[in-house]
Amino acid sequence: MSANSHLDIGDRIQSNRVHGSLYHDEQIFQEELERIWFKTWVYVGHESELPNNNDFIMKSIGPQPIIMVRDKSGEIQLLQNRCPHRGNQVCVKQKGNAKLFTCPYHSWTFANSGELMGFAFPEGYEGHETADKSKLGLAKVPRVASYRGFVFGSMAEEGPSLEDHLGGAAEMLDRVCLTSPEGEIEVTAGFLQHKTRSNWKFLVENETDGYHPAFVHSSIFGVADSGIGALYSNKSTALARDYGNGHTEIDLRPEFRKADVPLQWFGTTAERLPDYVASMNAAYGEKRAREIMIDGTPHAMIYPNLFIAEIQLFVIQPVAVNETVQHVTALQFKGAPDLNRRMRQQTMGSVGPAGFLLADDSEMYERTQRGVQSKNPEWLFLGRGEQREYRDDDGFRVSHATDETPSRGIWRHYRALMEA
Ligand code: FES
Ligand code: FE
Repeated sequence: MSANSHLDIGDRIQSNRVHGSLYHDEQIFQEELERIWFKTWVYVGHESELPNNNDFIMKSIGPQPIIMVRDKSGEIQLLQNRCPHRGNQVCVKQKGNAKLFTCPYHSWTFANSGELMGFAFPEGYEGHETADKSKLGLAKVPRVASYRGFVFGSMAEEGPSLEDHLGGAAEMLDRVCLTSPEGEIEVTAGFLQHKTRSNWKFLVENETDGYHPAFVHSSIFGVADSGIGALYSNKSTALARDYGNGHTEIDLRPEFRKADVPLQWFGTTAERLPDYVASMNAAYGEKRAREIMIDGTPHAMIYPNLFIAEIQLFVIQPVAVNETVQHVTALQFKGAPDLNRRMRQQTMGSVGPAGFLLADDSEMYERTQRGVQSKNPEWLFLGRGEQREYRDDDGFRVSHATDETPSRGIWRHYRALMEA
């Protein structure tokens, strides 16, 4: 390893501190691509982004461009957007509907399930009429699986199933879907992209860092006047949880249950969303609907790249050791048009071009990225709340919402993946 060759990965991760080089060492980043991004299950997209056969949309696994496509038989495929001829990107449109992809460089043509259909000027290829084209298709991501419409891909031929990878964290995705009267979410609002000059792991850790909001987001908490600030105060009853496999949560339900007001999690009231409340009551019965509307959607980080921030869905994409793109969209709930309209408005207000929520976080990411390159001290301290951490009834580690239980869980899993 370049900067600190005397330390291997295991030496750089201790129970309550990590070495700064993990965030800026180029060689470690390359190792992460191999051992994490091109191996474990990575969230790619949502089934609702491809409503019709032959729909496609550009996605990624780490820095690699991926075409997510619903082929002509209706099956979702993840194809590498790389021509087997000379490596050109075959698909240049962000999304669309196509039975065939034609490479813009020398016009090889592929079925939307990846198979090579034909060469341009075929006479130049020996035995072209009978040539075996099966080895010259677009490469496929070998394992594709979905859970409740969330589509994941793994570049490894073998490994744990998606269910095993998600483990107890799958329940958080169930909770997202439960907020819809039809039990399904939709990803149809379009994505904003935010680029930050920072290592991807700062973002993953920050998503369930309940310590910073009181300070970094004090300006938005001040103007929003929605009571969010109290959720992250020293007195909060909210919890930080480590589900294992790197998945983490800030569980705000204890605070919402204490308040006992439906839709407070969304900063609104039942009177403002009468259609939604009526649909929920019809779907789940009044008692259960009320509970669901009090609990709200989770604040959940599915390792390594899917973050559900109550009203938004984020996808974290590392592009270089010190550069990360966050793709963000408003969650949309099937059968809830009045809720969805507000979801889009709040998303534009908080993480849109003029919103300060993500701008404030990004400023922290970039300053931290610059800070960790300093010599002495080279370590980052992650010991907050270690002494008051305990196991909940399901055996998951929990602590106060402002504690660093999630970060410690993320690093435990990181170490296991990097040393596997
Ligand atoms: Fe695609 Fe040549 S690079 S056809
Ligand atoms: Fe934040």
